[in-house]
Amino acid sequence: MTVCCVLLTVLSFKFCTPCEHSYLLDLLACVVVFSGGEAAHTAVKRFTGLYTGPYFDPTTTTNITTQLGTHAYLPCKVKQLGNKSVSWIRKRDAHILTVDRFTFIADDRFQAFLVENTDTWTLQVKYVQARDAGEYECQVSTEPKMSHFITLNVVVPKIEILGESDIFVKTGSTVQLKCVITQSLEEPAYIFWYHDGNRVLKYEENAIDIKIEREATQTTVSTLVIYNTRSEDSGNYTCSPSNLDSASVLLHVLNGEHPAAMQRGKNSASPIPAWSHLSMGLGLAACTPPRFAIAVALSLAALSELLAC
Ligand SMILES: *[C@@H]1O[C@H](CO)[C@@H](O)[C@H](O)[C@H]1NC(C)=O
Ligand SMILES: *[C@@H]1O[C@H](CO)[C@@H](O)[C@H](O)[C@H]1NC(C)=O
Ligand SMILES: *[C@@H]1O[C@H](CO)[C@@H](O)[C@H](O)[C@H]1NC(C)=O
Repeated sequence: MTVCCVLLTVLSFKFCTPCEHSYLLDLLACVVVFSGGEAAHTAVKRFTGLYTGPYFDPTTTTNITTQLGTHAYLPCKVKQLGNKSVSWIRKRDAHILTVDRFTFIADDRFQAFLVENTDTWTLQVKYVQARDAGEYECQVSTEPKMSHFITLNVVVPKIEILGESDIFVKTGSTVQLKCVITQSLEEPAYIFWYHDGNRVLKYEENAIDIKIEREATQTTVSTLVIYNTRSEDSGNYTCSPSNLDSASVLLHVLNGEHPAAMQRGKNSASPIPAWSHLSMGLGLAACTPPRFAIAVALSLAALSELLAC
């Protein structure tokens, strides 16, 4: 009878390790089989004898991947811990981070806690940084010490607006700005577009369109389409997701040869830097007399700048 129980235990452990409570089930099975008085006691003792003292649950993960800025949870599942301590140690510099519930590092992003009913001592790393990546050791204070290693991988999402950082288009054309976010485990809750600091909204019918697509599991694309561009559409366009840095491009809507556009474009920013000073100066020259002197001075300054090149 005793032999049967041990066999049962070994078998179920071999085939049932993924089951959370296989250990508990074994225990119950044995207690049921040997419920005849003192025999039960012997059987349970023999079972625990397979693992004297603490042991790591073999199903515990050894590889955790988390996104930059989020919280990471490193589990360490220790059975039959008894009154032993569980410490978390950072491999990189052998720094002891925690011992049981106590944090031993001057960085309050690190904290360990016991998840009730799971025998799991979890190390929490808040606001994960790139330098947190690496190996962590969960150590049990047995003699000799027992260790379980977990590798923390930190994924840094990338954001870019496709194409050049300066975009030149003619008035009346359609512009499409594609903001691509890759390697993001967590989809941004929203992606906003800004034009010179003002939120771009889809309010103008047919003038602007914004689309967001989750293209692959770790890729999100937000597309801003501006139809029939006007010179006022020139400026800094920023793509700003909820959980990441932003990306920007400068859009220059050029007047081209279109006469109407030429006139309207008088007070618009010219895309070519050296000219813009000059045209600003000339533009001002048409203003009220007191400003005339300033305008001329500006123009001369711009001219001298040009000549100095
Ligand atoms: C751990 O996970 C990362 C990301 O999912 C993967 O690239 C890496 O190969 C894994 N390492 C091991 C040892 O499984
Ligand atoms: C842990 O428990 C064992 C017996 O269960 C006892 O002998 C030992 O002194 C305890 N150790 C500590 C540090 O309390
Ligand atoms: C565009 O605006 C963003 C956000 O205000 C700013 O961070 C960025 O430097 C600007 N880019 C240019 C080229 O002006």
